[in-house]
Amino acid sequence: MTDVHRSRKDQHLDLCLGADVGFRQRTTLLEEVEVVHDALPDFALESVDPSVTLLGRQLRLPVVISAITGGTERAEAINRRLAAAAQAEGTAFGFGSQRLLLEEGIRTGFEVRDVAPETLILGNIGLAQARRASPEALFEMLEISGADALCLHLNVAQEVVQAEGARDFRAGLQTIQRLVEELGKPLVVKETGCGLSRSVGMRLREAGVTCVDVGGAGGTSWVGVEALRTAGRPARVGETFWDWGIPTAASIAQVHDLGFEIVATGGLANGLDALRALALGAKAVGFARHLLPYAVDPDPDAVRIRIEEIGDEIRMGLLLAGARTPEDLRTQPVVIGPRLLPWVPPGAPLCERRCGAPRG
Ligand SMILES: Cc1cc2nc3c(=O)[nH]c(=O)nc-3n(C[C@H](O)[C@H](O)[C@H](O)COP(=O)(O)O)c2cc1C
Repeated sequence: MTDVHRSRKDQHLDLCLGADVGFRQRTTLLEEVEVVHDALPDFALESVDPSVTLLGRQLRLPVVISAITGGTERAEAINRRLAAAAQAEGTAFGFGSQRLLLEEGIRTGFEVRDVAPETLILGNIGLAQARRASPEALFEMLEISGADALCLHLNVAQEVVQAEGARDFRAGLQTIQRLVEELGKPLVVKETGCGLSRSVGMRLREAGVTCVDVGGAGGTSWVGVEALRTAGRPARVGETFWDWGIPTAASIAQVHDLGFEIVATGGLANGLDALRALALGAKAVGFARHLLPYAVDPDPDAVRIRIEEIGDEIRMGLLLAGARTPEDLRTQPVVIGPRLLPWVPPGAPLCERRCGAPRG
């Protein structure tokens, strides 16, 4: 079991670093969001404050380093760099799946607290594994790795394409509800590149979930990754469904008024993408594959420097939008393009904020 997991993790890293695993036609639709320029901001760039509170913790930047890896020596080097960068820049940091720790006690790659003592650290497990585990075992997994909260990842599309993947998805919502009630740490429900719809958002809210990562389409295609990892049937099915999913901007729009703290991951590559996601209603934004090459760069400081740049871009973007904080930005007008508009629920707050929308 261990060897299968390890080699799959290595293949995922190799493919995400070296192959074309992005969506092909589908985009994030963030390009359909125009944040309106303010030619007359009445404050200094220095006074822009991009900090936010997520899961009750203050982040200096509204950024999460999303789940990438763990469980191998290669993962260890990556996670320690990412976690140290999160500590330096004031972002949150997420482990990749901790299945190897949960099921086999492997701690490699999950020990980063020493380099990230004040960072909000997110643990990670798939719904299929969580369903089989007790809340106590999951709590223990989080404690061992110093994680403050659990990201429970949903990846149905990846599972059904993967030859060895799960096929039975019963009792998912029950598992989530049980964890909300019994885990003893905050829970984030996270898609991994196919997005969350309004209907799923409503079911999650009903189950008591308060924080979601929309993990939308337009960035890394996990169906595509699986297609490239295998041959034969999975590869052909993967080709067919390569672009499946709800674009990141559409997914934020779908759930923006359901009362969640929203993290927006899925295809983000710079501070302008972040600004657009924040304007739509995300509390924080997540970067996964974009950061990976920096995390394996010969310069050990490369990923921290890239996150610092993204932070600078977010600050500049806020200034250019005339918003001192991400919260200010969320109340300002936005222009929403025709491909994103059908995803905005009628009558929702985002409708009212659209430039040109009738004021009532
Ligand atoms: C190499 C790699 C491994 C990943 N492994 C996990 C994982 O174990 N658990 C998880 O929840 N998400 C995982 N993800 C998904 C990301 O957290 C993210 O949801 C998805 O890739 C979309 O974001 P992106 O377009 O910025 O890559 C992984 C992403 C990458 C690039």
